[in-house]
Amino acid sequence: MAAGDLVTVTYRSEAPPGDEGFLSVRCDVTDGQQVDQAFKEAESAHGPVTALVANAGITQDRLLVRMSEADFTSVIDTNLTGAFRVAQRAVRGMLRERHGRIVLISSTAALHGAAGQTNYAAAKAGLVGFARSLTHELGPRDITCNVVAPGLTETDMTRALTEEQRQELLRQTPAGRPAHPDEVADAVAFLAGAGYVRGAVIPVDGGAGLGH
Ligand SMILES: NC(=O)c1ccc[n+]([C@@H]2O[C@H](COP(=O)([O-])OP(=O)(O)OC[C@H]3O[C@@H](n4cnc5c(N)ncnc54)[C@H](OP(=O)(O)O)[C@@H]3O)[C@@H](O)[C@H]2O)c1
Repeated sequence: MAAGDLVTVTYRSEAPPGDEGFLSVRCDVTDGQQVDQAFKEAESAHGPVTALVANAGITQDRLLVRMSEADFTSVIDTNLTGAFRVAQRAVRGMLRERHGRIVLISSTAALHGAAGQTNYAAAKAGLVGFARSLTHELGPRDITCNVVAPGLTETDMTRALTEEQRQELLRQTPAGRPAHPDEVADAVAFLAGAGYVRGAVIPVDGGAGLGH
């Protein structure tokens, strides 16, 4: 928005405050019809969607021996298939516009794994293969697809961690502190402007993966 872009924010349960200068539309990414409707509302208010950030995510952490199939598939459905639904809908319009930027929000769990997160890490790792395959499909067109892989970031998701889990994650993080959400947004904004960065995974993890 600071760059003058017209922004549509989607929400599932609770609309964000309405006076921030963006359009907000309800969208559950597990429902293809809601995804299509959200795009229609964004297009009718702002014109073609030329940048997409696929950010919706859930966790359902359990050790594998205790994980139900529903724990696994629900996390895949939101974090991976949800990204497929929104990216596929976005690419149709981007092909018409001959321009587009897609950024998928993954996680360091995709690259390093995490105990209790076989479902989440599999979904987030899937985004990497998805982005790289789409990069091949889009070939020389001016449509990019990249991945941002945040480490521990101060949001509602991490407020649910125990103090012990949080300290363990910080111990593995050279920066010694969690990311602020704005620091993840900085990487997204960079990718939204970068035409020759494609199929990349940008870690925003305070050095936890030392660039990997
Ligand atoms: N926080 C971290 O440390 C961290 C680290 C690495 C990666 N990430 C990733 O960063 C992204 C943002 O997470 P966050 O930390 O901001 O977590 P969060 O505070 O829990 O926010 C997750 C967001 O996803 C939305 N969402 C969940 N299921 C959805 C669905 N089916 N359809 C549409 N929206 C849905 C939630 O909407 P509701 O509020 O309606 O549920 C919420 O707005 C996620 O992809 C997460 O995996 C986070």
